[in-house]
Amino acid sequence: MIFRKNISLFAIIAVSLLISCSDQESEMEFEPEDRRISFNENWSFSLNKNENDSISNNSEWKNLNLPHEWSIEGEFSKDHPAGAGGGALPGGTGWYKKKFQKKLEDTSSITKIIFDGVYRDSEVWINGTYLGNRPNGYVSFQYDLTPYLNYGEEKNEILVKVNNADQPNSRWYSGSGIYRNVWLTTTNKLHIAHWGTFITTPQVTKDSAEAELQIEIENRFASPKEAEVTTTIYFDDKEITSRNDEIQISSEKKKEIKQSFQVENPQLWSVENPQLYKAVTQIKLEDEIIDEYTTIFGIRDFEFDLDQGFILNGKPIKIKGVCMHHDLGPLGAAVNTRAIERQLEILKEMGVNGIRTAHNMPAPELLDLCDKMGFIVMDEVFDIWSQHKTENDYAGDWKEWHEEDLKSMVLRDRNHPSVFMWSIGNEIQEQWNEKGAEIGRELSAIVKELDTTRPVTAGMNPPIHTNDENVTLQFEEAAEPNSLAGSGALDLIGYNYAHQTYTQHQTNFPNTPFIATETTSGLATRGYYEFPSDTTKIWPVRWDIPFDGGNPDNTISAFDQVRTPWGSLHETTWKIIKKHDYLSGFFIWTGFDYLGEPTPYGWPSRSSYFGIVDLAGFPKDVYYMYKSEWTDEDVLHIFPHWNWEEGQMVDVWAYYNNADEVELFLNNESLGTKSKEDDDLHVMWRLPYTAGTLKAVSRKDGKTVLEKEINTAGEPAKLNLEADRKTIKADGNDLVFISVYINDEGGNLAPRAGNLVNFEVSDKAEIVGVASGDPTNHESFKGKKHKALNGKCLVIVKAGKEAGTVSLSAKSEGLEEASITITLE
Ligand code: GAL
Repeated sequence: MIFRKNISLFAIIAVSLLISCSDQESEMEFEPEDRRISFNENWSFSLNKNENDSISNNSEWKNLNLPHEWSIEGEFSKDHPAGAGGGALPGGTGWYKKKFQKKLEDTSSITKIIFDGVYRDSEVWINGTYLGNRPNGYVSFQYDLTPYLNYGEEKNEILVKVNNADQPNSRWYSGSGIYRNVWLTTTNKLHIAHWGTFITTPQVTKDSAEAELQIEIENRFASPKEAEVTTTIYFDDKEITSRNDEIQISSEKKKEIKQSFQVENPQLWSVENPQLYKAVTQIKLEDEIIDEYTTIFGIRDFEFDLDQGFILNGKPIKIKGVCMHHDLGPLGAAVNTRAIERQLEILKEMGVNGIRTAHNMPAPELLDLCDKMGFIVMDEVFDIWSQHKTENDYAGDWKEWHEEDLKSMVLRDRNHPSVFMWSIGNEIQEQWNEKGAEIGRELSAIVKELDTTRPVTAGMNPPIHTNDENVTLQFEEAAEPNSLAGSGALDLIGYNYAHQTYTQHQTNFPNTPFIATETTSGLATRGYYEFPSDTTKIWPVRWDIPFDGGNPDNTISAFDQVRTPWGSLHETTWKIIKKHDYLSGFFIWTGFDYLGEPTPYGWPSRSSYFGIVDLAGFPKDVYYMYKSEWTDEDVLHIFPHWNWEEGQMVDVWAYYNNADEVELFLNNESLGTKSKEDDDLHVMWRLPYTAGTLKAVSRKDGKTVLEKEINTAGEPAKLNLEADRKTIKADGNDLVFISVYINDEGGNLAPRAGNLVNFEVSDKAEIVGVASGDPTNHESFKGKKHKALNGKCLVIVKAGKEAGTVSLSAKSEGLEEASITITLE
């Protein structure tokens, strides 16, 4: 719908939070031409050959569009200073420049450039004038270009230096470059300030809600101004209510006003039904509308209760969350809305309802999508305070920047209905001492100054430091005041791991509710099952490099993955969280595999093994355990594959729901019926392998719910392609994710196939990523070929800007080739 077409030059859209979410655009026709425009196209980029080169040494410039990051294009090597922990990819120093014109009519306007995120240590110049430096690689920041601009024919040049040469500076893969969106805003001298609105809903009932909008208005005129500020609330494109105020504002000053609204029969935001409202604020000066700013918001009421856990709109619900790093697998760190949306779709399908932005401010697009799709977000700001975790990390910038960086996160993100808690840190080195208590109180106060509607937490490992390796000890004393947990800074006690202590929470922290900020850290490679030769211990290790650390009795447990010494099996933590109401929920480490941190391994591994979903987006088996528990959809998942040595003892597991029992058949002979007892989350049969067909049937009240079959696969014979969508937008950004399956003649997945697959795409689109989910693969993600892992790999194709059809073909020596057609519109 269109709010108004006839508004003046400076007016129009604002922080249209959903501007880049593809299917929201139609409903957001704010003509994005003036107030905020994308500033992503036509940049020149040059990477220093030597670390200390200055820009004048750089002769090779290439043309590109942002978001962009260069590390992902590099070669994997154990010698890069980031190490395997940083993804074994190169860093370096890069320069970006862009020439642009400003219209003569803009001479009396205010122009700002907004960077959603630059990794890291950026420095920015406009027409040779230095604007500033921003070390934090995840923060969103802006500069006022107004005093330095040329108007009319003459051009302007913006120059950005990005310094990611000092490594290691991260415990995971960061990426390097201007990897998030860049915007240019042009406003009247009288305008709504950057991040200038804050909307809260102090009263919410089923029948009526109160919304309070705080608006910061900035007057950059040399004279005082009188203006009219009107905000209209819309739901589903219908006007709900409106309010109008006259204001007077002195020259070169900011003014804050508040407008309150009553919303009858509010449509509440929930994870199942994430309803969004829109507050459109206009400023009228001398009868002309000179600014318009949109604030997307949701109406919801929540609390963390000491006994009942998380309550949303009056209903207790468990937070079933996952931690996510910011990289997009083979696409690296460069933001792409569709790639984030796909990750969230895969997680939603599993029943996930929460996301923790580990361990940094996320891309704004992630929060827009969480608002729209219904996720409970823990928005996290720091992995490091004043003490280093890696040699060149943020600790060096802490003193000067922590306050501004934290404020930027809260100011930017506080209107998002999906954000339910602020995390001021993850496993901060100072957490168990007085310094941690002191910094914790400082950070919490900074947050509270800007937002008192959400609790502050931090991921602590564990909240009470016992100085004892054995965290199973019962804590008898509450946390010391000279620690972060005992400092009073936190409204929610955040547990990283230490699941053995959760049931002590109410004793140890009688006045502060619980959240498990990070749990589990299970290790698995998708589709990998290994059986030790000692068949008396039939523990299939889903792992390709033996792990001998940790607790030998407990390290490997049947099919529920290998656990880390600090973590747990997937089933273990979920069983505890599920059982007690006061445990409000958890964030599993992690939803997807991510680049870097192949802990507990190092090179040749270059990406993590913790994900429930692999780096390419293929679910690992445990995905279906969660799905069976967290969704109403019928689930029956049996594994492993059925290609073993004759006589090998194999444990066959089934995850199921909505049924009383599962019966397993091998070559039509029943192996018996099993049911989950007590708090079981799976059933299992142990049997000697013989080739053929394994079939499982789940039944409720004697009626079949689902049937699943796995056949012994023959030799790899053909390729099979499956696209996540057949039609995508011809907008130069949209993506299609094409899964590649290596099948035998009969169409069964060849479960160990590792064939090299070559891809070709016709005009109008390009291949932008290839992956298999194998953490030890060293082929480029940016190539046009990739080796499959256990029968599967992925190719990602990006749309150009011309409509039409695109054909993607896949070839592999000795296999029947395949192709698929995608429509761009
Ligand atoms: C946690 C940490 C995460 C990740 C994880 C691996 O302690 O917060 O960032 O390193 O361990 O298990």
